[in-house]
Amino acid sequence: QRHLLGIEPLRPDEITALLDLSDKYVTLNRARDKRSTTLSGLTQINMFFENSTRTQASFELAGKRMGADVMNMSMQASSIKKGETLIDTAMTLNAMHPDLLVVRHPHSGAVDLLAQKVNCAVINAGDGRHEHPTQALLDALTIRRAKGRLHRLSIAICGDIAHSRVARSNIMLLGKMENRIRLVGPATLMPAGIRDLGCEVYEDMNEGLQDVDVVMMLRLQKERMDGGFIPSEREYYHRYGLDAEKLARAKPDAIVMHPGPMNRGVEIDGTLADDINRSVIQEQVEMGVAVRMAVMDLLARNLRARPKEVLV
Ligand code: CP
Repeated sequence: QRHLLGIEPLRPDEITALLDLSDKYVTLNRARDKRSTTLSGLTQINMFFENSTRTQASFELAGKRMGADVMNMSMQASSIKKGETLIDTAMTLNAMHPDLLVVRHPHSGAVDLLAQKVNCAVINAGDGRHEHPTQALLDALTIRRAKGRLHRLSIAICGDIAHSRVARSNIMLLGKMENRIRLVGPATLMPAGIRDLGCEVYEDMNEGLQDVDVVMMLRLQKERMDGGFIPSEREYYHRYGLDAEKLARAKPDAIVMHPGPMNRGVEIDGTLADDINRSVIQEQVEMGVAVRMAVMDLLARNLRARPKEVLV
């Protein structure tokens, strides 16, 4: 692949190869000397048009550990604020010969559009409700390391499915790897046609969590609810917030995941989120750096194999 825009085009064997490479980067990241020269001589630009802690920090660390020249564009201080379009901004940066562009944007499809206009590799760091491919890959790596496999698991994805690019990418990835996926949440937060994706749908949390291996909680994304139904946090926590009582329905060794940022006391009980016997939330963050290193490593191999394109 030239870019990583989503999980949709990836084959199961490509996902497995990427996770195998990520495992090697986990080992490197745990070593005293974390440096490699994989991206040496390459320029990586991070363009985040939406807030981020985990994704931006891990892409920056990943690039620096692999020897790239990394630039974080401050979109708040850029000429976007003067009315410059996304495409003009991308073309401007493209003229400076970057090799890797990491882009997060609030509009679904914006990163795909940008990828068509530049002649470097583009990585989708989350576009609207569409996809967040590196999140799904890091979630997959976390599950594989915790459970010893990434197939024939029963996985509950719970909460605000409708607004979640994390859910969308995870449904595709975990489905390709032949897992059983349950979507649990209020009908108002389920996207139309969700059953077509081959998932089971539950409105009742206790039913949805019965005997699952993995419980993946999602953030209630109020910023994307644009005037639609917004549940009261108190009522939502009562019905859909994960606590020890609801988790007791899952298998005794079920793991608890959350992509972050978390709303403690809204979608998850804070004590449970911090319980190192059940929660793998910190492992997810750790896997994020390794997966992003593996993604950029593979894209850089492709870049180096292609003849340099003439600037258009
Ligand atoms: N999971 C995730 O994308 O977190 P950030 O918004 O902090 O990057």
